[in-house]
Amino acid sequence: MTCLRVKEEFESQITPRHVNGGCPYDVSKEKGVEKRGRVPKCSKKKIFFHDQENTYEIVEIKPHINNAGIALFHLLHEATAEDMMEMYKTNAIGPMLVTKAFFPLLKKAAQESPNEVKSCSRAAVINISSGAGSIERIPLEFSVQPLFEYRCSKAALNMLTRCQAEAYKTDGIIAVAVAPGWVQTDMGGPKAHLKLHESVGGMMNMFDTLTEKHNGVFLNWRGQTLPW
Ligand SMILES: NC(=O)c1ccc[n+]([C@@H]2O[C@H](COP(=O)([O-])OP(=O)(O)OC[C@H]3O[C@@H](n4cnc5c(N)ncnc54)[C@H](OP(=O)(O)O)[C@@H]3O)[C@@H](O)[C@H]2O)c1
Repeated sequence: MTCLRVKEEFESQITPRHVNGGCPYDVSKEKGVEKRGRVPKCSKKKIFFHDQENTYEIVEIKPHINNAGIALFHLLHEATAEDMMEMYKTNAIGPMLVTKAFFPLLKKAAQESPNEVKSCSRAAVINISSGAGSIERIPLEFSVQPLFEYRCSKAALNMLTRCQAEAYKTDGIIAVAVAPGWVQTDMGGPKAHLKLHESVGGMMNMFDTLTEKHNGVFLNWRGQTLPW
């Protein structure tokens, strides 16, 4: 689901600060114009992104949500290095690059509201992960759906989250990994357990409860802690 679709469907239920538009950049590329545009560029304290026609300046971001992701449904013996690389690039390297680009704005947001208890009103990095990235749960789940390239990339995203949590905590920014559940999107398919509004609505409510004590945790869409 794109941020724009979420924005359209949830405009009445969430405040605009939750959704920073669907910036059309390719999260897996640091440089170069792709069909979606470019990863945002940082120039001192200003951040821009470009599409084919316009340049936009991004002036505020809190929280920052890394949502873009891809999945492959291969078996282990079908795996290729290229597929694995693509998965890591989009699901783990992309969130690292995009968060890096937005870091100055997150830091500024944290400095401007030092006494704000709710982290999403101050500054937070939310990495949309997956229960499939849980190493602890794998014996229960692998036989149902191997999804191993996806699992590896989301486990890498989870580790990135823990690293971001440590790296950014002195700047007053928290980082959390969130599993949205099995959702009826292009990726989840029509048989998924959750409708889009259930998962996104649940996550939005949960984001509002995040405080410093959640730094570096792995949560599901209801706000319950998941095993790494
Ligand atoms: N649906 C589920 O059941 C489920 C379960 C667990 C976790 N998740 C996670 O939830 C997140 C959203 O997934 P979804 O279900 O909404 O999947 P989706 O319907 O397939 O949407 C994926 C979104 O990611 C964007 N995207 C993919 N590669 C990109 C790239 N290189 N650069 C920029 N954008 C890119 C797509 O943009 P385009 O449309 O332009 O390609 C699309 O908007 C993902 O991180 C996914 O792993 C989903």
